[in-house]
Amino acid sequence: MGSQRQAIEETNCITVTRYFLTEQKKHPEATGELTHLLNSVQTAVKVISSAVRRAGFTQLFGTVGETNVQGEEVKKLDVLSNELFINMLTSSYTTSLLISEENETIIEVETDKKGKYIVAFDPLDGSSNIDCLVSVGSIFAIMKKEDNTIPTAKDALQPGTKVVAAGYALYGSATMMVISVGNGVHGFMLDPSIGEFILTDKNMTVPAKGKIYSINEGYTHIWDKAVKEYIDNKKDPAKGTPYNARYIGSMVADVHRTIKYGGIFIYPATSSSPKGKLRLLYECIPMAFIMTQAGGLASNGKIPILDIQPTAIHERSPIFLGSKDDVQEVLDVIKKYDK
Ligand code: AHM
Ligand code: MG
Repeated sequence: MGSQRQAIEETNCITVTRYFLTEQKKHPEATGELTHLLNSVQTAVKVISSAVRRAGFTQLFGTVGETNVQGEEVKKLDVLSNELFINMLTSSYTTSLLISEENETIIEVETDKKGKYIVAFDPLDGSSNIDCLVSVGSIFAIMKKEDNTIPTAKDALQPGTKVVAAGYALYGSATMMVISVGNGVHGFMLDPSIGEFILTDKNMTVPAKGKIYSINEGYTHIWDKAVKEYIDNKKDPAKGTPYNARYIGSMVADVHRTIKYGGIFIYPATSSSPKGKLRLLYECIPMAFIMTQAGGLASNGKIPILDIQPTAIHERSPIFLGSKDDVQEVLDVIKKYDK
């Protein structure tokens, strides 16, 4: 009976494409453009996943000898991933404007291929982890272009409350896409034997409280007092059972673990980087959208990440994200110091 049941399920599995179509059908007015867009992201992610896993045989490790807009070394896999995202999205007839971590300026889609969406993405996040085989990921947020005018950077400067869909792909021990179209969060694992993303994590929710804090403690000397006090508390047995420390250094992997196990991920402002490191449009906003949809919180320390009005496409923001109670606790400490 058990194996028969399994066989029935395998003939009726929910692929990510099937999920997109089902969601589309819930909105009779939908044109299918978002479904096409998400499918083009899916294609880019499949190729990046394959490239990441085969990089050792295809001379794709290492750098191309250039630095990007953020002043960071560009890795060969960064370039490949960026080209894949750009090519798949611009040829999908669904976008008019793209913002990439790897491109200093906006990418405007040719007139005859224009569609109604704007996509901000980090094609391969956690690049410093590529060459040592630690998990990396891709992150994206999709917004609507509000009018038919020629796209400018201003069109992309929309707060997270305007995001229509966001997600990430994690190239970990397995490849997984975690997506929200504003209707909960769902996870799809790539089955390499058939090349399809299959729904494995339906309605993902983050525990209300966790037992893990995730922050780069090498920067303790440049944290502000509130962050220092909060992390000290998490290690002090007099203040409750101490938390475990976990920090991968790939935001996608750290956030994915936070959703699955609970806890808090922090990339704070520091005295040397007063706006933190992570980028608002294609790192903080999409992850905040997912975390909020999963029942957690995401704040810059003062207001919800999704309420921030972006002012520049590569703007940075501090971020405190994860389980509701854990994020609230750090916000309470921050409030105490702000008084
Ligand atoms: P990247 O976009 O250049 O890969 O940098 C972003 C990454 C995040 O994935 C991660 O959370 C953070 O940088 C780690 O930074 P640090 O090494 O300062 O802790
Ligand atoms: Mg990145």
